[in-house]
Amino acid sequence: MKMDILLGLQWGDEGKGKVVDVLAPQYDVVARFQGGPNAGHTLEFDGIKHVLHQIPSGIFRENILNIIGNGVVLDPVVLRKEIEGLHKFNISFKKNLFVSKKATIIIPTHKLLDAAYEKSKGDKKIGSTLKGIGPTYQDKIGRVALRVGDILAPDFEDKYNALVEKHKTILSFYEFDLIHLPELEKTFFEAVEFFRTLNLVDSEYEVNGYLDSGKKVLAEGAQGSLLDIDFGSYPFVTSSNTMAAGACTGLGVAPSKIGEVFGIFKAYCTRVGSGPFPTELFDEDGEAMRKEGNEFGSTTGRPRRCGWIDLPALKYSIMINGVTQLFMMKADVLNIFEEIKICTHYELPDGSRVDRLTYELNTQDAKPIYKTVRGWFTSLAEANDYDKFPVELRDYVSLLEDELGVPIKMVSVGPDRKQTILR
Ligand code: GDP
Ligand code: IMO
Ligand code: MG
Repeated sequence: MKMDILLGLQWGDEGKGKVVDVLAPQYDVVARFQGGPNAGHTLEFDGIKHVLHQIPSGIFRENILNIIGNGVVLDPVVLRKEIEGLHKFNISFKKNLFVSKKATIIIPTHKLLDAAYEKSKGDKKIGSTLKGIGPTYQDKIGRVALRVGDILAPDFEDKYNALVEKHKTILSFYEFDLIHLPELEKTFFEAVEFFRTLNLVDSEYEVNGYLDSGKKVLAEGAQGSLLDIDFGSYPFVTSSNTMAAGACTGLGVAPSKIGEVFGIFKAYCTRVGSGPFPTELFDEDGEAMRKEGNEFGSTTGRPRRCGWIDLPALKYSIMINGVTQLFMMKADVLNIFEEIKICTHYELPDGSRVDRLTYELNTQDAKPIYKTVRGWFTSLAEANDYDKFPVELRDYVSLLEDELGVPIKMVSVGPDRKQTILR
């Protein structure tokens, strides 16, 4: 068996949680491969909305194993809170949740460092979620981080203290106030105690074993390709490889074992945090999109920046990920527009037109060039079949498919599990 991957093609929040939940019954295992509590993946069914941060989005489906892979940076405090918050839903975490011993642990001072670094950047700040993601990946690459398996060793506290000492030196350079550290540490160590009771495994053996025995595995991405540490709009990115290759390193699965790559995108664009966003709307259309799409961050509650769909960016994401199927999300949000704009190119200050996300593009003022199409301007509440979609929506889908060269196999018309139209 090959492992399929589902990932976001824009700046995150495309609707990955919803789609993983919809697809999960077709799989035996769902595995997160990167990111951490910066993610907020929303699922809706039976009138209840759930937001998951670190737990994979297959958790609400019975008999599906959920794995948090080695590529993830994990906050034990957040994990404990998530698990406890789900107690009333009778989920068997003992049976259905596994955590890689090689995943990296976020400790309290990572969050303080995140805040200190952001503060020091002033108006050049990244807009980090302040969950400690950057500093934790920094320590991982710097070969000083703590890993999940370390919590089982008798010298865990020594290792912890050694790392905290390093962090304190940096924090004192930034004159950062450590007054809250003791209480943060207390909560952290209580969460570590709880963490020791979970299934801690060498997940690369588990995942490869499942694939070898013919079981189906879906890798769940976090963030989006345009936030990838190598290919995103650096430095306004997250600190992991959010792209398909990240699923190989983040789970220990060889590239030859990758099957389908599901690329998901909104019918428009959003972004939280700083960084370039060529199609961003600052007018009433952007405001209307935010309102209609309820575009407020699932993790931080921040208003998301909104704009029209960006084809050069999508083409780039499709290229670096080898996307085999596209899923278009939140089509219903565009119901309110008589006309819809599609960015096909960018115009640079020297008047030239480009459709590539080059290194230089990041530093230039790229003005979007749009093609305008007629909107469907009607509710999609009754649209439970692709053939019943308004013709303008089917034309929109066809136009995107022609431009992107990959079939759009799913269109999502609302946040609920059921509001998902397969083609
Ligand atoms: P993720 O991070 O990619 O999982 O996405 P988020 O959960 O952060 O953000 C997506 C938001 O859009 C959530 O509030 C979802 O409930 C919602 N959503 C997902 N699909 C649709 C859709 O087709 N239509 C509408 N209106 N909302 C959707
Ligand atoms: P999901 O998985 C949207 C953004 C932050 C910030 C930048 C760096 O829900 O799609 P970080 O905390 O990672 O150092 O922040 O990345 N960001 C996200 N934006 N969705 C996410 O996750 C995000 N995770 C991080 O807003 O701009
Ligand atoms: Mg999200």
